Amino acid sequence: MKTIAIFASGAGSNAKAIIEYLHPTDESINNSVGLIVCNKPEAGVINIAKSHNIPVLLIEKERFFNLDGYLEVLIAFNIDFIVLAGFLWKIPDVLINAFPKKIINIHPALLPKYGGKGMYGARVHEAVLAANEHESGISIHFVDNQYDHGDLIFQEKCKIDAEDTPASLAKKIHQLEHEHFPRIVKHLIKIN
Ligand code: GRF
Repeated sequence: MKTIAIFASGAGSNAKAIIEYLHPTDESINNSVGLIVCNKPEAGVINIAKSHNIPVLLIEKERFFNLDGYLEVLIAFNIDFIVLAGFLWKIPDVLINAFPKKIINIHPALLPKYGGKGMYGARVHEAVLAANEHESGISIHFVDNQYDHGDLIFQEKCKIDAEDTPASLAKKIHQLEHEHFPRIVKHLIKIN
């Protein structure tokens, strides 16, 4: 049994996809999402957590960046693995050191392009379209101490059509994320 914390501060559609993939209705649960970590009290992911009876840890900058990074809480919840799904704060060294190769992130473009600080949400898709790319995609990678930088685990591409807008591209990317992220998470926690 492995327990996962999902760090998310947005709508939470990836968190939902992972929770539902890992919490089968047939009771054969051997891995589960035990905690949602969020830095925005109004984030949609909080309602998703509530509807699945998953506890939410609302975090603040001071403790996250300058104290223990909430490590004590993660230990208390027996967290083995951390999944970032729409979490924009940089992960502090205290957590990277405590969870070596056990923190992963998903990025809505084909890294190493279109990543880094400030590259999130619609900005990523706007940049991809402005560069006249013919394809984009998703990247799942281990987290290190730089934004969108650790070793790649998985990528999947999608085509960009002439009529694509940032919104339509975001939709294609979300579909790819929901299709692949849950199974990659499941695979990684199995082999780790
Ligand atoms: C996803 O597109 C993910 O790639 C990025 O943030 C977005 C989160 O979307 N890191 P959601 O909150 O899971 O719907």
